[in-house]
Parts: sequence; C-alpha cells; structure tokens
Amino acid sequence: MEPTSDTLVCLLTRDLDPTEQRNALLFCYSASRIDANCIGWLPKEAYDNRHNRGELLTLWRNDDLVGFVLMSRPSPYGELRCLQIWVRRDARMILHGKVLINKLEEIGRERHCSCLRLWCAEDLAANLFWATLRFSRRGWRWGPAKVPRRHNLWWRAINPLGQSPSPDGQLETVSLALPRGYPPHPLELRADQEAGKSN
Ligand SMILES: CC(C)(COP(=O)(O)OP(=O)(O)OC[C@H]1O[C@@H](n2cnc3c(N)ncnc32)[C@H](O)[C@@H]1OP(=O)(O)O)[C@@H](O)C(=O)NCCC(=O)NCCS
Repeated sequence: MEPTSDTLVCLLTRDLDPTEQRNALLFCYSASRIDANCIGWLPKEAYDNRHNRGELLTLWRNDDLVGFVLMSRPSPYGELRCLQIWVRRDARMILHGKVLINKLEEIGRERHCSCLRLWCAEDLAANLFWATLRFSRRGWRWGPAKVPRRHNLWWRAINPLGQSPSPDGQLETVSLALPRGYPPHPLELRADQEAGKSN
C-alpha cells in the first residue's frame, strides 16, 4: 500500500471555491453555538464582511475543515488583532491552533503589521495556548458581559524577517542581524511604542 501523509492547508475563505466558501461560513457561524463562552457571539454579517475583505482564515486537514481565525484589518498602528480563533473540539491539541497563528503572522507581515494582539478571558484554558506560543501578557480589562470577566491582553511582535520570536517575544533575530550601533528597525520601534500605549 502507498504511504499516506496528511496535508494541512490554511486558506482565506475568499480564495475558496463557492461551495467550500458556503460550507466554511456555516462552520464559522456554528462555532459560537458550541463555544460561546470562549469566543463570544457575533452576527453572521460580521463573518460575511470579513470573508469579503480577506479577513477570515480557515485551516483544512485533508479537505476536512478543522478551524478558523477571524482577524481585524490592520490598525493604523500596525496591529493585526485576532478577533476569534476556534479549532474543532475533536481536532485540538494537535497543533492546529499553532498553524493558524503562524499563518496569521505571515498575513500580518504581508499586510505591513508589526504585532499580533488579542483579548482572552482570564478563566479560559486558551491562556496557556497563548503563553506557549510566546505571546506576552500586556495587561487586562473587564469584559463586556453582564457578569464581568477579566480579559487578558496578549501580544506578540511580528518578526519582519519571518523567523521565530525569542522566548520573551522580542525581535531578537532582527537586532542580531544588524551591525552594532545600527538604529532599530522602524517596525521594531512601532511595536514597542504601541505595546506601551496598550497597557
Ligand atoms: C485555543 C485553541 C484555538 C488552541 O488550539 P489547539 O489546536 O488545541 O492548540 P495547539 O494544539 O496548536 O497548541 C499549541 C501549543 O499550545 C498548547 N496548548 C493548547 N491548548 C492548551 C491547553 N488548553 N492547555 C495547555 N496547553 C495548551 C499545546 O500543548 C501546544 O504546546 P506545544 O507546542 O508545547 O505542544 C483551541 O483550544 C480552541 O479552539 N479553544 C476554544 C476557543 C478558544 O478558547 N479560543 C481562544 C479564545 S481567546
């Protein structure tokens, strides 16, 4: 028998064919019904609009849709926000979330962003996911729900050269790549300034 290997592909929903687009949107609408406590609730229009703008990213394993990320448009400060990330319950803890965030970082780089950021309710297991992915916690705020929950602000710099972040999430590789005394990269400065503002 021929050996088989899994294929894992990230695609923006707007790049899918029409039937797959429809299925992907239904998949995203349904996530809140299963895990509203984790990702909140958004109207269908929120997904439709971001789908049209190329801000809805899906992850496929062997043609099976396993998760998605809903992202913001880049802010004027060069931030790309992860508005929702969701992986199917039966597909968790096998690195699907990590693949989605790696792809989100790549998209952020293409869209000239300097950092990724997001809010995560303090009681969710997902905080361990963000910490494992070397995001740093930059503060907290009360969430909007009637019964208020604290939400952590998680942040990670986007390395403009595409290498992995250092353990503290800073742009170590960029600094090392530049000659001594060379001024900091403008994206590095913007990321630091913005992180300071967000606290
Ligand atoms: C959070 C979520 C997207 C993570 O996706 P996932 O595919 O299960 O995560 P991964 O398998 O890619 O995990 C990446 C790393 O984080 C760790 N991790 C992920 N979830 C974890 C958890 N609940 N507890 C501890 N560690 C966790 C993994 O062990 C892995 O670490 P490793 O690289 O050392 O092996 C997924 O659990 C989910 O959809 N949760 C419900 C929705 C949600 O909470 N969204 C986030 C709201 S802020």
